[in-house]
Amino acid sequence: MSFDRTIKIAPSILSADFANFGQEIQAIEAQGADWVHVDVMDGHFVPNLTFGPPAVKAFRPHVKTVMDVHLMITPVDPYIQAYADAGADILTAHVEAGPHTHRTLQAIRAAGMKAGVALNPGTPAETVEHLLDLADLVCVMTVNPGFGGQKFIDMTDKVRKLRQMIGDRPVHIEIDGGVDSKTASLVTAAGANVLVAGSAVFKGGSVQNPEVYGENIKAVRAAANSAI
Ligand code: DX5
Ligand code: ZN
Repeated sequence: MSFDRTIKIAPSILSADFANFGQEIQAIEAQGADWVHVDVMDGHFVPNLTFGPPAVKAFRPHVKTVMDVHLMITPVDPYIQAYADAGADILTAHVEAGPHTHRTLQAIRAAGMKAGVALNPGTPAETVEHLLDLADLVCVMTVNPGFGGQKFIDMTDKVRKLRQMIGDRPVHIEIDGGVDSKTASLVTAAGANVLVAGSAVFKGGSVQNPEVYGENIKAVRAAANSAI
């Protein structure tokens, strides 16, 4: 997986049909998704529960692009190897999930994955300042994690700060939560290049009617690119 800062749209399968993940993944990729975003929740770090390593492993053969796994769990470290075995390409942990994010990022890379660090809306950019050489991606949450379909929280200043802090390092800035064709341009103008979108991609479509996914992805991408 080579690094570049072109806009990437990463549909979150949190908004997919949970009884049909394989076909949903195939549909969004056929319709232009760049990455597949997988939201792991533990009912403890966030007030919602999704799926764990065996499910993620079952998704793997369907993902031909990049499997971007977002852990909303604590603790993280005991599960890193399980997500490596499940085939995650990128594994993102929250900086709020424990006191030793530095160690966590080292362990994720040591297990052969790209390492991401996520920040809740209330967490300042400076929290990751000394982690940037260990990270391949910084995920800026623009909702409080736990649910799809929430209202976008403007984190433009934080994104701008992070973009400056990152400089020439090969680190993606990913935005997660409430991204649609209205909010996308705000964050790409500030320096983000990976946009997670759940409801904005899946709304109105289905595996029987996948062209809608394609139109939705196109709309978010066009808005994102219009600002850079
Ligand atoms: C929120 C998740 C997001 C979520 C985004 O906790 O991390 O990935 O699925 O969904 P939308 O795009 O609907 O806000
Ligand atoms: Zn997510």
